[in-house]
Parts: sequence; structure tokens; C-alpha cells
Amino acid sequence: WPYYLSVIAFGYVLGSIPFGFLITRFAGLGDIRDIGSGNIGSTNVLRTGRKSLAAATLLGDALKGTVAVLVTNHYFGFEMALLAGLGAFLGHLFPVWLKFNGGKGVATYIGILLGLYWPAGLAFLAIWLVMAIVLRYSSLSALTASLTCPILLYVLGHTQMAEMFTLLSLLLWLKHHENIGRLLRGQETKIGAKSKPAG
Ligand code: G3P
Repeated sequence: WPYYLSVIAFGYVLGSIPFGFLITRFAGLGDIRDIGSGNIGSTNVLRTGRKSLAAATLLGDALKGTVAVLVTNHYFGFEMALLAGLGAFLGHLFPVWLKFNGGKGVATYIGILLGLYWPAGLAFLAIWLVMAIVLRYSSLSALTASLTCPILLYVLGHTQMAEMFTLLSLLLWLKHHENIGRLLRGQETKIGAKSKPAG
């Protein structure tokens, strides 16, 4: 157990780095949690109108997941890498530094998936992109891609990964409950729209 827990803890520490929060703060934009949806993720950073900051947030939030699984895979093998990925995802969603109120997990999910099994990561990105281009809702794109990916992993015979990503998708959906409400009411903000009041 101490062995498993330290791998999860390693992932957690990396995953809990809140890139969106830090990048916007250093850029002098104040607290990102007071802007738009109040989320610390790349979609909300884009609502400040600063595309480069949104791109940096996306990259940072994804890479922390990739690094966690690649490093762990290298030293301790694939099953431990799955645990590190779980830790990184939990770190992003529930970072101790932000009183356990973190992001919604999309970028980190992609980063973990790319690090563990890149074809599935590319499939997630492709689904996200097609949905985003056609319907222009970031949240709906992520919800669709995260619903599809575990099914795809099962079908391809990657049962262990499918199980872990089912858990990650469940958490991602729970974190999107406000977005789901807004989508159902037809009030969700489209990609590219500037900030609206937090909430
Ligand atoms: O990546 C999070 C996205 O799916 C929704 O973000 O800011 O619109 O709640 P936001």
C-alpha cells in the first residue's frame, strides 16, 4: 500500500499545479475564478480574450498528466502509471492549494490518455475538435469525447485502461454538472465568447 499511495501522491502533486490560476494571476488578470464560469481551465482563460494564456493553460494542464504517467511508466511500469494518472486527475480536480476546488479535468484527461495510449488520446482530441467546430460548446465536446473514450478502450480490448477512464469520465461529468444544466437550458456559452459574470 505505501508503494501504491506514493505513486498516487506523486501524480497528485503534479496534477494539483493550477496552471490556469497561476498563469492568469502572473499576467495581472486577477483571480480567474471571478471571471466567466469561474473555472480555472483553458476554456475559461480564453474568456479573458488572451488566447496565448489559454493555450499555455491547456498545455500545462495536459502536460502535467502526461509527465506523471510517462515518468511512472518508465520507472515502475504500466499499472503504476495508471495510478499516477489517477493521482494527477484527482490533483487537478481537487488541489489542496485551492481548498480542493480545482478544474473540470478535460486537458489533464487528454494528457494522461496521450501518455498512456496515444491513439486513444488522438481519438479524444478528434471527437472534441469535430464537436467544437460543429456546435461550438467546449463542455459538450468534452462530455461527448469522455463518454466515447472508455467505450473505445473496451472495444479495443484495453480493459484496465477502460476501467480507469470510466472512473475519470464519471468524475469529469460530475464536475460538469453546472455546464450540463446550462446546456439543457440553452444557456451555455459558446467558444470564443468573452467573459460573463461568474456562476
Ligand atoms: O474544460 C472545461 C470545459 O469543458 C468547460 O469549461 O469554463 O465553460 O465551464 P467552462
